[in-house]
Amino acid sequence: VDVDPSAYEYGELAGEPRMYTEILEQPSSVERTLRGRLDERFGTAHLGGLNLEPRELRAIRRVKILGCGSAYYVGQMGASLVEELARIPADAEAASEFRYRNPIIEPDTLYVAVSQSGETIDTLLAVEEIKRKGGRVIGLVNVVGSAIARACDGGIYLHAGPEIAVASTKALTTMYVGFALLALQLGRVRDLSIADGKRLIAGLQRLPAQIEEILKDEDRLEEVAGALAQAESMFFIGRVRGFPVAREGAQKLKEISYRHAEAYQTSELKHGPLALISPEVPTVAIVPDDELTDRNVAALHEISARRGPLVVVTHPEVDLGDLEAARVDVPKNEVELDPILLTIPLQLIAFHAAKVLGHDVDKPRNLAKSVTVE
Ligand code: AGP
Repeated sequence: VDVDPSAYEYGELAGEPRMYTEILEQPSSVERTLRGRLDERFGTAHLGGLNLEPRELRAIRRVKILGCGSAYYVGQMGASLVEELARIPADAEAASEFRYRNPIIEPDTLYVAVSQSGETIDTLLAVEEIKRKGGRVIGLVNVVGSAIARACDGGIYLHAGPEIAVASTKALTTMYVGFALLALQLGRVRDLSIADGKRLIAGLQRLPAQIEEILKDEDRLEEVAGALAQAESMFFIGRVRGFPVAREGAQKLKEISYRHAEAYQTSELKHGPLALISPEVPTVAIVPDDELTDRNVAALHEISARRGPLVVVTHPEVDLGDLEAARVDVPKNEVELDPILLTIPLQLIAFHAAKVLGHDVDKPRNLAKSVTVE
């Protein structure tokens, strides 16, 4: 679905909510993020805007990612990518909290600020706090020349194109791709093999067609959304790579459908949330085909035994046995890149749930597109 920008005004998408058109645009926005940045010969990425020499990239001992809301959740996905591909300790933190705890800024840490608008005040002030203490910050930013882009020492522009809807969709997928490129480049100046680098590149190149495939499943997602919209409250669950996906799914649903949605790690089920499982409280579970599939499925049986309705976002390779659940399949990519594909159906589920409930998806109550005041 290669959406020409003029389609918003004059084409077949005229009159459709902006969020919907932005969801559909993702195959082409991901292509734009990748364009000119993949080096197939050496299985690496070229990110000239980082302004870092290979020697400096090798000297990085830690990566700390900062963002707000959905940008923070994608930051968590990015931290996993950096740890898995580059084997550098990495974590993400809410930029809105960072400066209030007098953070320790280390010279061999690479700080990464992630923001669609580049104007989010909490993220900008976190960048300024790091710079004031002599740290090095790069930005993953969509809006060219924005305040955060200017405040950083270098960075990666996302090229997602203008994102207007308050609920962020296409910017998030491009942020994920930006993190994959960063992790690839960091990995290839360390111990990531050329073969693994090439494997990742091939996976990145498959993403646009696979996103398109997921978008074609819209009727099924609309059906699932219709059922979820009836519930006042629901859970989103996932483990390790799947947990930030669950957080982002809950966030999107809350923002535009005004239904209560909470995300927790599937492994935490028995440590509390199980008490709330009932036929009135559905659970949306992220169950990729990975080393944790069996454990994930076992947890879903615990939910099902308490008659909790289930929606399972998974891969065709996963056998759910006799589990009673509404199943949503997404195509498999390389295991490191799966989270972004698992996120796409959750965007359409949130969109259709809000639509069924009659909400204005582009202008959710009480929310602004970018939060520029404290
Ligand atoms: C996403 O759907 C939200 N509207 C919100 O969490 C957003 O991601 C956050 O405010 C950060 O915005 P930014 O990417 O422009 O910094």
